[in-house]
Amino acid sequence: MDTAVHISKPDVVLNIENLSKYFGKKQVLHDISFQTYAGEVFGFLGPNGAGKTTLIKTVVGHLMADGGSVSICGKTLKKDFEGAMACVGGIIENPEFYKYMSGYDNLLQYARIRGVNDPNRIREVVHRVGLDLRIHDKVGRYSLGMRQRLGVAQAILHRPKLLILDEPTNGLDPAGIKDLRDILKGIAHEEGASVLVSSHLMSEMELMCDRVGVIVGGDLIDVKSVEELVSATATDKSDYIFVTGDGAAVAMLLDFIPDESKTLTEDGDLEIVIPKREEKELLSRINRAVIQAGIDLYSVSPKENKRLEDVFIELTGGEGDVQIG
Ligand SMILES: Nc1ncnc2c1ncn2[C@@H]1O[C@H](COP(=O)(O)OP(=O)(O)O)[C@@H](O)[C@H]1O
Ligand SMILES: [Mg+2]
Repeated sequence: MDTAVHISKPDVVLNIENLSKYFGKKQVLHDISFQTYAGEVFGFLGPNGAGKTTLIKTVVGHLMADGGSVSICGKTLKKDFEGAMACVGGIIENPEFYKYMSGYDNLLQYARIRGVNDPNRIREVVHRVGLDLRIHDKVGRYSLGMRQRLGVAQAILHRPKLLILDEPTNGLDPAGIKDLRDILKGIAHEEGASVLVSSHLMSEMELMCDRVGVIVGGDLIDVKSVEELVSATATDKSDYIFVTGDGAAVAMLLDFIPDESKTLTEDGDLEIVIPKREEKELLSRINRAVIQAGIDLYSVSPKENKRLEDVFIELTGGEGDVQIG
């Protein structure tokens, strides 16, 4: 019986070694090293100002590194910039399109510039991003989500081994986020590209990525598989923000919630930590109490950054002076 387990070595697509970057005297990236592999979605997770955009711009050659090296498909930016760039596609800022032209004509135009001569490739990428039915509409009539998907289609036209997107889901609605997430996973898992995305949202990275690098204050603190990240931060409590007409009054009113589980935020909203096993029951009890007291209840939302904060505390051993932006 052959029970041998074959573990193949992953194909390294992006290799970053000891990268550092300064703006003036301020060091924004500290000695960053990591690799991304073919067939995976790799996420950069970090609060605003952590250095995600700077790192991504350095990888795509919009910024010059001050130290260390970046290589893509074995080609270093220093020695073979054009060779390395030929392996990359990306959306760094909002993708620019001719609004008065159709999505298709925009792609055609771009294909000519990039020297993509395969007429079937446009059809392929359009299908990949799910724009088949709307590709002949003018881009000016596209939603933000559709423009973002057209951006992805454009970025993968030349079959790059590395696809990079800086905070690609910013501004998209939940349906748009899910569409984009599935598209990016498909590009990695089915087409074998290495996809690098950044985000400040832990939940988004959990759903989209295979591995996540956590970056804070220009330091890459850790690289973990999503499973490891989730289990490192698994908790039996949930954190909710209640936006009401009077946070302080609501805090007083909810005498069935212990004081240490209630905090007033700077905005006067009420943050409440709820044990998961009583989550539904307590949420409805709180809702009822607020309404019955005649206080306006505008929204209840899970506090995302709390988890991110936990990740950083976990990974830095509680020593990091972390500002969640
Ligand atoms: N062109 C620039 N000149 C000077 N400082 C910059 C510039 N761009 C970014 N920074 C600073 O570098 C740090 C990292 O920024 P950035 O890479 O944009 O972070 P993120 O994308 O994670 O929000 C921040 O402190 C930011 O203020
Ligand atoms: Mg950024």
